[in-house]
Amino acid sequence: MDVTVRLAINGRVAELELDNRVTLLDAVRDHLDLTGTKKGCDQGACGACTVLLDGKRVVSCLVLAAQCDGREVTTVEGLGARGRRHPVQEAFVRHDAFQCGFCTSGQIMSAVALLDEGRAGSDEEVREFMSGNLCRCGAYPNIVAAIREVARVDGERR
Ligand code: FES
Ligand code: FES
Repeated sequence: MDVTVRLAINGRVAELELDNRVTLLDAVRDHLDLTGTKKGCDQGACGACTVLLDGKRVVSCLVLAAQCDGREVTTVEGLGARGRRHPVQEAFVRHDAFQCGFCTSGQIMSAVALLDEGRAGSDEEVREFMSGNLCRCGAYPNIVAAIREVARVDGERR
């Protein structure tokens, strides 16, 4: 059955006619051409598809697009402002926190949420609360360093 889904996505409104079984991940990639969000396992195990739904991180392969009607979705394309990268994106570049890059948008979205949740107080805490985001290239030490740097800068600003 087709349904109408209205999403507030990356600051604009998109109206889609979709089969009610379409996931948020497929809606974003295949219907909105926002291909920064990656499909790894398609079963909630890798975190590559992480996006923000009403500001909270979700694995978009386990969310139906129809559940998101009227809600706010942010993908990696929606980070940053006025042509500038988000501080987490900058830190990932500075710390070389990726190799092939396949997991990176999911890592970054998860990191943005983690910082917002106040769960980046130590390396151990970052590792624990980023554990749903897998990196087959093993860039974990650099990812942790990037997130901790942003957390420190945020802490100094407060
Ligand atoms: Fe969604 Fe792996 S593609 S968790
Ligand atoms: Fe290759 Fe993480 S950078 S999977």
